[in-house]
Amino acid sequence: MKQFPKNFLWGASTSAFQVEGGYGEGGRGIANSDMRFIPEGQADFKIASNHYHHFKEDVALMKELGLKVYRFSFLWSRIMPDGHKVNEEGLHFYDQLIDELINQGIEPLPTLYHFEMPYHLIEEFGGWRDRRCVDAYVAYAKVCFERFGKKVKNWITINEQMCATTPDDMNGNLEKDDDKRHQVLYQMSYHMTLAEKITIGLFHKMIADGHIGHVVAMQSVYPATSDPLDVQAAMNAQDELMWSFLDLSIQGSYSQHFTSYLKKHGWYPEMLEEDQKYLREHPDFIGVNYYSSLTVRAKRKDDDTSHMPPFFISDQFYVVRNTKLKPTEWMHFGIDPEGLYMGMRAIYDRYHLPMIITENGMAYSDMLEDGHIHDVYRIDYLEKHLAQVARLVDEGYPVLGYCPWSFVDLVSTHEGFGKRYGLVYVNRTNTDPMDCKRIKKDSFYWYQNVIKDGCIS
Ligand code: BG6
Repeated sequence: MKQFPKNFLWGASTSAFQVEGGYGEGGRGIANSDMRFIPEGQADFKIASNHYHHFKEDVALMKELGLKVYRFSFLWSRIMPDGHKVNEEGLHFYDQLIDELINQGIEPLPTLYHFEMPYHLIEEFGGWRDRRCVDAYVAYAKVCFERFGKKVKNWITINEQMCATTPDDMNGNLEKDDDKRHQVLYQMSYHMTLAEKITIGLFHKMIADGHIGHVVAMQSVYPATSDPLDVQAAMNAQDELMWSFLDLSIQGSYSQHFTSYLKKHGWYPEMLEEDQKYLREHPDFIGVNYYSSLTVRAKRKDDDTSHMPPFFISDQFYVVRNTKLKPTEWMHFGIDPEGLYMGMRAIYDRYHLPMIITENGMAYSDMLEDGHIHDVYRIDYLEKHLAQVARLVDEGYPVLGYCPWSFVDLVSTHEGFGKRYGLVYVNRTNTDPMDCKRIKKDSFYWYQNVIKDGCIS
């Protein structure tokens, strides 16, 4: 039996553009996610899981599950349809959601920015590539703190800077030239960090009894062999994909290697002298998103990277399959609970901040069988990862809580509705929104017992 502390925050996660729907309703503006190219036969984000209309039922299910905390995000374009003017109806929706959560004894843990933003800000000045986006984000954060700060005490600034800066169709980085694209990417990342840091300072003034954190897409990177060049490639990938973003967001500066890497390429972001005072601000905790580990080797001249997502295209490493891990239909890098343990250990030992797991989950093409979902594979995944969390807790690492991804099935960031992560099934397909009826999966009942007993076997 692995026992968790009494005050451990048992939670679950979603993000607004992937779960809410409610497109065109309640004064909501056009979001960047509405303007994406969606391949034929794949769900878009307009109805999603229809949480906008099912939120009361969803909160009732959270209560039944025993959740202590619900991690969700605000849809910026619902609160500020054009990125500037405040939409009262949008704020009212979140008032209702937050009140419902609090009435059911569930702590709200909102993320201000989870990949989504008003499309107008991209049209107006290109989104995060322009410094004006820093001001727009800070103004948005202030509106949220003013409105919800009395009842919401724990907040998250930005979800996964690495993933937020790389999908060009979401962030407006439409540079064709690869070199320029990278330069813009790091400028965007810098602006995000600056926005976060100014916001953190503001938060601590406005909500003195609250806590605010940053969320990282945690990378546990292994070398494919013990060849020193592969080992260096793994160090470089870890640096490029995680430490670079995290060092900047937590410490306000890059590592020596990464600074030199950016300068050599001409990608070092433009910073102003006056920014220094903000860069000293740091979050109160780190949120960790983890799905699987990554294996790399040294880059060779003839390596083909055309099939890789943008963040895996680098001259410092080349992503390969880990022969020790078995890929599944959707989990292409395999399943690796040990990676969670190693990654969180490294993060804590570098920054010494409390951590909460804000995402961890298994995607599967779940099929209804006589009205049930027997997702033993997901239970196995979650249990093995929780065992690693228990190991961290046992060693004295300050892990505050665990939020599996996702509470209900929702639209994947880029792979539609067939790829499901939820503890609760949502009755729809990629092409037919049907009734979006909620059906509890076996993993729901399993997690309910874990929460009730506060332990795993
Ligand atoms: C995380 C994101 O990176 O991965 C989530 O924060 C996302 O928004 C999750 O849904 C799973 O990825 P995908 O691409 O399968 O949706």
